[in-house]
Amino acid sequence: MSQGASGLEPIPAGVANLADFEPHAKARLSEQAWAYFSGGAADELSLRANRAAWDAINLQPRVLRDLSGGHTGVRLFGRELPHPILLAPIAYQLMAHGDGELGVAHAAAAQGAGMVLSAQASMPMEPIVAAFAGEAQRGPLWFQLYWRDDREFMRELLRRVERAGFEALVLTVDAPVHGARDRERRAGFALPPEVRAVNLGGIKKPIDLLPGQSMMFDGLMPRAATWAELHWLREHSSLPLLLKGVHHVDDAREAMAMGVAGLIVSNHGGRTLDTLPPTAWLLRRMREALGPDVPLLVDGGIRRGTDVLKALALGADAVLLGRAYLFALAAAGAHGVAHAIRLLRDEYEIAMALCGCRSRADIGPQLLIDARE
Ligand code: LAC
Repeated sequence: MSQGASGLEPIPAGVANLADFEPHAKARLSEQAWAYFSGGAADELSLRANRAAWDAINLQPRVLRDLSGGHTGVRLFGRELPHPILLAPIAYQLMAHGDGELGVAHAAAAQGAGMVLSAQASMPMEPIVAAFAGEAQRGPLWFQLYWRDDREFMRELLRRVERAGFEALVLTVDAPVHGARDRERRAGFALPPEVRAVNLGGIKKPIDLLPGQSMMFDGLMPRAATWAELHWLREHSSLPLLLKGVHHVDDAREAMAMGVAGLIVSNHGGRTLDTLPPTAWLLRRMREALGPDVPLLVDGGIRRGTDVLKALALGADAVLLGRAYLFALAAAGAHGVAHAIRLLRDEYEIAMALCGCRSRADIGPQLLIDARE
């Protein structure tokens, strides 16, 4: 683990885009941390498909338009944001760099990006909110949850999250168990003793099985969230609730009918069920099925300003970065994260201008073309 920077850590020479941080991250992370952060499930088909899908979409710009006065701003849940980029929840960021989640929060806030703090953050939530709150141009600050089968614990966690000042909850629903992660197993991944999910104190109830019972279906699954727990969460928190990792449009419709505020279209960065479709494809399908008004965000393989533009053209209200900012954190601490957001934001601005888009309102499916036609 790297030490926290006093002052700004330098951006490695030759970093011109988000992907350029990756080899620097690999060089600085332990083999185990690299396996955890970079790896996906099984054959990593979904992990690769996410990137390939953005690459496969072609753009069809308009030219000679007057773009003066244009901007990258968007509206999300009634707020004006300087650009549509948020940082997705990633667990245990102290394992990537001593700046950890607090450094990421400073970087995100300074660059006007939103942040979704992982329930498994390795630093306490309150200073992270404080780091964020001071920036006038800051993006949204949300808290990601996994269900834990202990309602008293959940009640207390929700109270703490609300008191701290988070603006929404994000329940991750596609990972009731860890995916089959070959790279983690090969590397013998275990958390270093100094890195813990510090906001989830308390002891998980031990799982007692009778002879012949299955750890999966008698041990873990009875403790996982169902629609009943979603209903309970809606009743026990006044914060808007988003779901992350809904794949079937019928589940999406059911969630919206239960009062969910929006969805994050995600395949968990290819880390849960391998061979899930790429999120670009899933986003298009969700937008077509759910209509224009349901707030939809997307993550999975976003690395370029053109990816951001394509996501918005397919109907996303905003996008989230995952590994891309984590690698920047590992490579250069908080400064790396701020730099990565800035690079993406600048690329997005260039992509808008080159596509003849003055604002979000100009970005739609008419910008996309199937080059095989
Ligand atoms: C993961 C869990 C923490 O992907 O979401 O490792």
